[in-house]
Amino acid sequence: MKPKTPASASALDRRSFLKGIGTSAVAVASVQVGAMADEINKAAPAPALQGPGAVPVSLTINGEKKDFQLEPRVTLLDALRYFSPLTGTKEVCDRATCGACSVLIDGKLTYSCMKLAIDAQGHEITTIEGLAKDGQLTPVQQAFIDCDALMCGFCTPGMVLATTALLAENPKPTVDDVKRACSGNLCRCGTYPHILNAALKASGQAVTETVTVIHHGSVA
Ligand code: FES
Ligand code: FES
Repeated sequence: MKPKTPASASALDRRSFLKGIGTSAVAVASVQVGAMADEINKAAPAPALQGPGAVPVSLTINGEKKDFQLEPRVTLLDALRYFSPLTGTKEVCDRATCGACSVLIDGKLTYSCMKLAIDAQGHEITTIEGLAKDGQLTPVQQAFIDCDALMCGFCTPGMVLATTALLAENPKPTVDDVKRACSGNLCRCGTYPHILNAALKASGQAVTETVTVIHHGSVA
């Protein structure tokens, strides 16, 4: 008759066996990760470090190539406002919450305070100054005037660009589409109903929202 193996001895054997497998698996995985890292490094060598001093930065803004000397930490917003005369792009929160700094990059609405200027190279940047051509306002800009869609005007460049980006993608937006498209832009003056109307008017649609206008304390 076969002698019985004590339970503790059997458990020890299993543990040792599993430990051995685990160690081997980790070793194999490490080798594989190392090999993959080598492959990636060979395929895409790390870009040369830039900065911290100023380096040449070339940006295409409103169709024109402009050359700057900027530290790599400079945001696109600061490059526009402080290294060029394009102050139509507004700085408010400087932390991606208000949309006042919105510009279009390759037609896409972008917070310029969250984009490094150096990373915007090779792309088409459009600021509020780049919309009107030969003094002719775009339908969106004209609709903002016609609908009285601004008060202090601080949010207006961003709102106009948000609406412009929307209509380029969706020429006949619904009211909800407009609300969604402008949801990343804040207006502290509360002109939202007028902005909504301006977007509908610019898209050739009837203005459907009821707009409440307050005249000297009375509602008209
Ligand atoms: S200044 Fe960029 S989101 Fe407010
Ligand atoms: S019009 Fe003043 S913040 Fe919008």
